Amino acid sequence: MTSPGPAALVIVANRLPVDQVSEPDGTTSWRPSPGGLVSALEPVMRENDGTWIGWTGGRDDRMEPFEADDLDLVPVTMTAQEVEEFYEGFSNATLWPLYHDLVAKPEFHREWWDSYVSVNRRFAELAAEHAAESATVWVHDYQLQLVPQMLRELRPDLRIGFYLHIPFPPAELFQQLPWRRQILEGLLGADLVGFQLPGAAANFVRLVRQRVGHKTHRDLIYLPDGRTVRAGAFPISIDTAGYEELARSEAVVERAAEIREALGDPRKVFLGIDRLDYTKGIHARLRAFGELVRDGHFDVEDAVFVQVAVPSREQVEQYRLLRDDIDRLVGHINGDYGRIGRPAISYLHSSYPREEMAALYRAADIMVVTPYRDGMNLVAKEYVACRHDNTGALVLSEFAGAAEELRQAYLINPYDINGMKSALVGAARADDKELARRMRAMRKTVIQHDVAAWADDFLTELNDGDLTHDKVVRPARRL
Ligand code: G6P
Repeated sequence: MTSPGPAALVIVANRLPVDQVSEPDGTTSWRPSPGGLVSALEPVMRENDGTWIGWTGGRDDRMEPFEADDLDLVPVTMTAQEVEEFYEGFSNATLWPLYHDLVAKPEFHREWWDSYVSVNRRFAELAAEHAAESATVWVHDYQLQLVPQMLRELRPDLRIGFYLHIPFPPAELFQQLPWRRQILEGLLGADLVGFQLPGAAANFVRLVRQRVGHKTHRDLIYLPDGRTVRAGAFPISIDTAGYEELARSEAVVERAAEIREALGDPRKVFLGIDRLDYTKGIHARLRAFGELVRDGHFDVEDAVFVQVAVPSREQVEQYRLLRDDIDRLVGHINGDYGRIGRPAISYLHSSYPREEMAALYRAADIMVVTPYRDGMNLVAKEYVACRHDNTGALVLSEFAGAAEELRQAYLINPYDINGMKSALVGAARADDKELARRMRAMRKTVIQHDVAAWADDFLTELNDGDLTHDKVVRPARRL
């Protein structure tokens, strides 16, 4: 194994863009993970000899840098204790619920914070080691908010961008965090801080003004050392063409037909696909559907709800409780209203490859996305990308970032169960013309603004901000 040379572009994210797979002969290998971020950044990485720094998901697996599918990867090691305190603890039991409007109660523990600081430092040191002179470093998400400042101290020559994939909370909530000032200062190490929505960028600028006392003007923050930091909205998207191509492929079309047949060829297939997370509103949506079946609006002979729940963060208590709650609810609904071979809810606790997801999107008449709070929600956009014939309905929470772009969805408030029920009935009864009108408009949005455009916008803004910078990373689509 050879260590990659200094890189002109370094991506720093909590996870590496690969999954470990076990081969039949007992060896293991790495396969690119199906996430949108990798497909967005892969072309830019190749153009700029990029390196990706991230965690493999393991414990104590001291690995050397390696190459997978031509990508230079630098693994970050975490001990079992760090996984518990940095990842499960501070990242996912403190920041995650706090940044998602306190949908669950955040826990504050000083030892979790200490671990957050030391793991962030490890990421920053590796980035400093692998970045070429004047390189661009793009740091991602809530797990790594201290990296920009730590990295700037080590390497003032770098251009540093930070992007938050999840919501950034209003000041009233953020200020509960005992380490609020350190997080704001950590982020201010970046030249550009990107968020999903303009409201989040405005929350950040206001907090910096109030809590750190820096001068601000619109989206600019003026630091005492003369640097200017910009905060802006860059709504993330998906590989629209890739999904559409998949959805048109013969294999996916056949698989979609197979799925409908296996479900007993109902008239209406409802679909939910989420990580099993309490922010996603899975319980409320299944309850709404159960009540509609109970009240006779839908009959299990001609309607079914397919819910895919992808296992996630299973060591964190709130996630375990949620799993039990959903298991119980599905059991009740199916026990009360199902018939032989006809459950009201077809519940799958598993993750699936992109092809199977595309087939599910093709098979579903009504996609139901009901988070209490969500940075963007890419599932909503993936569904739209797969409906190239302008069929299908999207029921979407107004609290998902995607609702700011997909205005023609059936927008709902997930706290309002009756409102959600009306939307499900409305979407199921709408005529084809109405559905096509809505879908056409939503498709226009995701086609025009795909994930490549997102990466392009962010990197252009990051690199054009200061023309004195000599090495400018160019987004791949411009080359
Ligand atoms: C969200 C976060 C990502 C995270 C992903 C999966 O999309 O924004 O940073 O990687 O969830 O969660 P996990 O904890 O498995 O990395």
